[in-house]
Amino acid sequence: MQLPLFLGISTFLFTASFTAAALPKGYQTNTVDGNRWVNLTSLPSPRQEHATVAVNNNTIAVLGGVERIGNDSVQVRVFSTNLVELYDIPSDTWRTAAPLPIKLNHPNAAVVNERIYLLGGLVDTQSPPTAEADWIATGKSYVYDLIANAWTEVASMPPGTERGSAVVGVHGDMIYVAGGMTVLNFVVQDASSTVTAFNTTSLQWQRVPSVAANMPEGRQHAAGAVVEDTLYVVGGRWFERTNVRDTVFSLDLRNQTAGWQTSPSRMPTARGGIAGSAVGSSFVAFGGECNPDTSNGIYPQAEMYDLKSKEWKKLPDMQVPRHGTAAIAVGSLIYIPGGGLQQDGVPIERDGVVSYGQATAHFDAYEVSI
Ligand SMILES: *[C@@H]1O[C@H](CO)[C@@H](O)[C@H](O)[C@H]1NC(C)=O
Ligand SMILES: *[C@@H]1O[C@H](CO)[C@@H](O)[C@H](O)[C@H]1NC(C)=O
Ligand SMILES: *[C@@H]1O[C@H](CO)[C@@H](O)[C@H](O)[C@H]1NC(C)=O
Ligand SMILES: *[C@@H]1O[C@H](CO)[C@@H](O)[C@H](O)[C@H]1NC(C)=O
Ligand SMILES: *[C@@H]1O[C@H](CO)[C@@H](O)[C@H](O)[C@H]1NC(C)=O
Repeated sequence: MQLPLFLGISTFLFTASFTAAALPKGYQTNTVDGNRWVNLTSLPSPRQEHATVAVNNNTIAVLGGVERIGNDSVQVRVFSTNLVELYDIPSDTWRTAAPLPIKLNHPNAAVVNERIYLLGGLVDTQSPPTAEADWIATGKSYVYDLIANAWTEVASMPPGTERGSAVVGVHGDMIYVAGGMTVLNFVVQDASSTVTAFNTTSLQWQRVPSVAANMPEGRQHAAGAVVEDTLYVVGGRWFERTNVRDTVFSLDLRNQTAGWQTSPSRMPTARGGIAGSAVGSSFVAFGGECNPDTSNGIYPQAEMYDLKSKEWKKLPDMQVPRHGTAAIAVGSLIYIPGGGLQQDGVPIERDGVVSYGQATAHFDAYEVSI
């Protein structure tokens, strides 16, 4: 057997494990100043409060979220969407897929064996929807098959566990749903500590051991991932939008009876409304909302947590700072489609013109160097 020349190099394992994932057409990075942001083809339309998943190494899906009717000055309606868009990494192009059976925002979604599982989210309480967010949880759940381009309903979240804006992680054939919220309007925004699991083999919901069934504190609008055998929940909010948190909660999925742990290492900037994903053992948390220190209320920060050394490092700020988006890693790139450009519900005056929160179609990716 003839071995490739680089086999002796110690980075071989990393090199090999990242060759399978495609890079977007036109991919280039400028590493000279440490800027590793890559601009990609924009979403077909502005979008925020959606879910982002990787169906396989070539395809990213953006699910649900909210769209707006109005202009920069007057927001007439904000409404949930059933829009599903697929991004093809090698060609850097978008296409529309079969819509979700319901319109929802803040959906919980994950992929197992190239099937997308959409497990609950938030839906409009009023029809037609109003100018401001007024949403409650639904437990409705569906599975999407890429080849058939079709959604099929599966078991709803058990009564009392319906929520959106949770952290979702995959471990084997199980999908873990951690935290989230049941109501989001401009009076009440709760935070759930509930942890449940969906078995993609039996297509049923399962309880986790009671010691693991609640996180140390409720979290909504957090970020997280499963890395190796551990589920991480990073940052987020505990009730309301300004109760931002800097915690890293973790659960060993092989030994759930050990319960949730709180890392002694805190995220440098407490934030909610963040997006995050992991490349290898590096988890990056991007953006966020309700920053008292910026005029648009957005956190521009990108901060990276080394899950092994438990050290945080600041990365260059987001090129287009935003909140209400979702990130997914494929290979060494973390893809971040769309998001909100300014804090929702708060009019912001710029050059004498008042504008409300607007979503963006901007799509970029951050390359994590290993
Ligand atoms: C990427 O796009 C953003 C928004 O349009 C822009 O501000 C930024 O300069 C672009 N970055 C590069 C490297 O082209
Ligand atoms: C925005 O929409 C409102 C309500 O329809 C309208 O009165 C206003 O003229 C619009 N403003 C701009 C800049 O188009
Ligand atoms: C998922 O369901 C299958 C089929 O019922 C079962 O064999 C398996 O043990 C379940 N997985 C877990 C982790 O409970
Ligand atoms: C699981 O965690 C418990 C509690 O920390 C510990 O006592 C037990 O040894 C662990 N089991 C394994 C297999 O690691
Ligand atoms: C996807 O890429 C990863 C490495 O980034 C690789 O380990 C995996 O085997 C690939 N999956 C498929 C189905 O090619």
